[in-house]
Amino acid sequence: MEHLAIIMDGNGRWAKARGLPRSEGHRAGGETVRRVLGFCQTAGIKYLTLYAFSVENWKRPKAEVDALMTLLVSYLAGEEEMLHKHQVRLRIMGRLEDLPEFAREALQRVERATETYERQLILCLSYGGRTEIAAAAKRLAERVAKGEIALEAIDEQLFAQHLYLPDVPDPDLIVRTSGEMRLSNFLLWQASYAELYVTPVLWPDFDQADFDAALAAFEKRERRYGGC
Ligand code: FPP
Repeated sequence: MEHLAIIMDGNGRWAKARGLPRSEGHRAGGETVRRVLGFCQTAGIKYLTLYAFSVENWKRPKAEVDALMTLLVSYLAGEEEMLHKHQVRLRIMGRLEDLPEFAREALQRVERATETYERQLILCLSYGGRTEIAAAAKRLAERVAKGEIALEAIDEQLFAQHLYLPDVPDPDLIVRTSGEMRLSNFLLWQASYAELYVTPVLWPDFDQADFDAALAAFEKRERRYGGC
């Protein structure tokens, strides 16, 4: 498998079950991110995409949003050395312009510092699949209006080149933790032929055995891409 994408869900429920604030669930979720990066390295997975913050997540209470942004920056500060050690490139996917300046700057700095590495950790932040598709449509329309491309030239391939990270292959497997059977606006275009795997395990509890089970389930699937 080349590209694994994960909807990291259940941090809030994990915290609630322990009588802790939701921010503690996100902190524990950050620990899981650290572990899973290691599992991917061992499994030889080249791209790991994580749904860390959706465009809809801005509706959460300000205290939780602030805690998430701070956690993200402190996580980056703690993990930058590890990214270099394992030669992992950090990339952000989403409306980076929505993030507070301190977070944006920290993320962009690490993106630049790691941009020569081949393996990639892609963090979806202020991300929405529909927002991404609408932005691609807008860019294409602008280019048509300027005469840079002909209307007739628009096909799936050209459209995909206007998405956020056009050089990244589509995910092979999308894992969602904590049991919900939905995509929640994640990688709507790219998910067309991805295999889906949902586990009831809450993200902070997701461990090596859960990771192995997801990969084993994927290996058993027969991918036909609409053929027979
Ligand atoms: C979903 O759980 C999780 C999030 C909205 C945030 C994900 C963030 C992290 C795992 C922490 C840091 C990330 C990185 C990359 C360091 P939820 O809050 O929706 O849980 P619930 O459905 O149980 O309420």
